[in-house]
Amino acid sequence: MLSGNRVLIVGGTSGIGLAVARAVLERDATPIVVSRKEASVQSALDHLPGSEGGVCDLTDYAQVSALATAYGPIDHLVFTAGEPLSLVPLADLTRDVVQDFFSTRFYGAIDVVRAIAPALRPGGSITLTTGTASDRPGPGWLLGATVCGATDALTRTLAVELAPVRVNAVSPGVIRSPLWAALDDDARQEFFDSAATALPLNRVGEAEDVALAYVYAMEQQHGTGAILRVDGGTVLV
Ligand SMILES: NC(=O)c1ccc[n+]([C@@H]2O[C@H](COP(=O)([O-])OP(=O)(O)OC[C@H]3O[C@@H](n4cnc5c(N)ncnc54)[C@H](OP(=O)(O)O)[C@@H]3O)[C@@H](O)[C@H]2O)c1
Repeated sequence: MLSGNRVLIVGGTSGIGLAVARAVLERDATPIVVSRKEASVQSALDHLPGSEGGVCDLTDYAQVSALATAYGPIDHLVFTAGEPLSLVPLADLTRDVVQDFFSTRFYGAIDVVRAIAPALRPGGSITLTTGTASDRPGPGWLLGATVCGATDALTRTLAVELAPVRVNAVSPGVIRSPLWAALDDDARQEFFDSAATALPLNRVGEAEDVALAYVYAMEQQHGTGAILRVDGGTVLV
């Protein structure tokens, strides 16, 4: 059902967004991948024959507003841009740290939607990215948990304000992606193993697992304001 559509994926050059781009290509649609670093964009375009894309740093509003006209008609917007979770105890949080963390996933999402929503073709949709951190926070998780809670509220509010454009969000649990690249190989594997052991499905997610939820959010025609959880059962235990 996506065949022939044009899908703008902000954050589509890595991890979950890149897997969405591959899924879009497999369905004979055109992914348009944008992110902050030229090298990430070039690498993604090299791996996605037939795709389009370019640089857009969400912390620069001029670059975000230019998205509205940069790639021609757009059917669906997928927003997966984000930075690694920063675990910071409350005592060390300054307003600057909080604002900095919100600048990509929250302010960035609002700015992109404001730029793109008016230009979406009829029948189009917007899919944002949240996470299970707001449902299952731990000590030091204030930034990750609150940005997810804010994104959940943003999704439901935009679903009402932008209707009939459908606005949904995908909520991943722990997903094996470059987001965790700052951990060294052993620490990363240990983290994935320990996360897997705690899950009903006994494994962490792969980017391809989550990509299917974005495809569903785009293809289905009657769900809006929904948060689609793909977390291996994280919030059940
Ligand atoms: N992986 C998980 O376990 C998990 C779990 C729950 C939620 N999430 C959320 O899901 C989203 C995607 O995660 P992922 O695992 O796919 O991460 P990822 O592999 O690190 O990809 C993040 C993408 O965001 C882009 N990006 C970062 N800052 C940007 C900025 N200022 N402007 C434009 N693009 C920017 C990166 O592009 P550049 O390379 O160009 O910087 C990259 O393409 C994130 O919001 C993450 O917090 C992930």
